[in-house]
Amino acid sequence: MKIFATYNIKGGVGKTATAVNLGYLAARDGYRVLLWDLDPQAAATFLFRIRPRVKGGGKALIRGTRSIDDAIKATDFDNLDLLPADFTYRNLDLVLDTAKKPVRRLASLLAPLSAEYDVIFLDCPPGISLLSESVLQAADALLVPLIPTTLSVRTLDQLTEFIDGLDGSRPSILAFFSMIDGRKRLHREISQQLPEQRTDVAATAIPALSLIEQMSVQRAPVTAFAPRSVAARRYEELWLEARKRSELPAPPPPDSW
Ligand SMILES: Nc1ncnc2c1ncn2[C@@H]1O[C@H](COP(=O)(O)OP(=O)(O)OP(=O)(O)O)[C@@H](O)[C@H]1O
Ligand SMILES: [Mg+2]
Repeated sequence: MKIFATYNIKGGVGKTATAVNLGYLAARDGYRVLLWDLDPQAAATFLFRIRPRVKGGGKALIRGTRSIDDAIKATDFDNLDLLPADFTYRNLDLVLDTAKKPVRRLASLLAPLSAEYDVIFLDCPPGISLLSESVLQAADALLVPLIPTTLSVRTLDQLTEFIDGLDGSRPSILAFFSMIDGRKRLHREISQQLPEQRTDVAATAIPALSLIEQMSVQRAPVTAFAPRSVAARRYEELWLEARKRSELPAPPPPDSW
């Protein structure tokens, strides 16, 4: 089982759009996929048309008084399940703080799911908190959307430094440019140069496209409702890169019975 987390300290950079589309593509490839929406805004939950309601709240899941299995919902798509968020998730930090080993907590909650899932996506809220530290410990790979500014490199360096300083297991980082505006010279330049200079920046960039914004109207991944669009193709390329880098084994063969 591989655990990917879409993470950035900054908000509104494309974390949820990435988790939703890559989750869909992984499921379409035949992997058994779970997406855990960890954000009290519950955007991923909304996009998959699932009610933002967790019985007992985030507290029950983190404390283990309610099993994760119980809270998982099927989506409209084969092989793709969702663990929804609700507004109680705003207090996950406080709940984690009372756990024995807060930063190991997510990893230990997720470990038993390896019998049921091949790939897990964690869609993180923005910011840096105890929850994010717990995510960093649990994840095999971080997918980090970067807005193309001269400061984006600094953001990435800060994150890398922070992760290097962590005890225990550390995720690999795959950053990629998000919301590229092709009319801006600076955007074009940065998004071309950086992948050539740094191995932690993906060759694939996701342009700013209104079709991606349309996801909140369609309430589905753009890779599902417009599979031949430029937007969908870029997410496919990004998924291929992420899949390759993480050395994800081939998906299990479909049930033959
Ligand atoms: N490449 C893109 N082009 C155009 N719009 C985009 C793109 N990626 C995301 N968006 C839109 O921008 C908004 C923010 O995107 P998204 O929710 O994926 O970001 P986020 O990093 O998850 O935000 P938050 O930090 O609030 O969780 C959404 O309305 C989304 O539809
Ligand atoms: Mg989000």
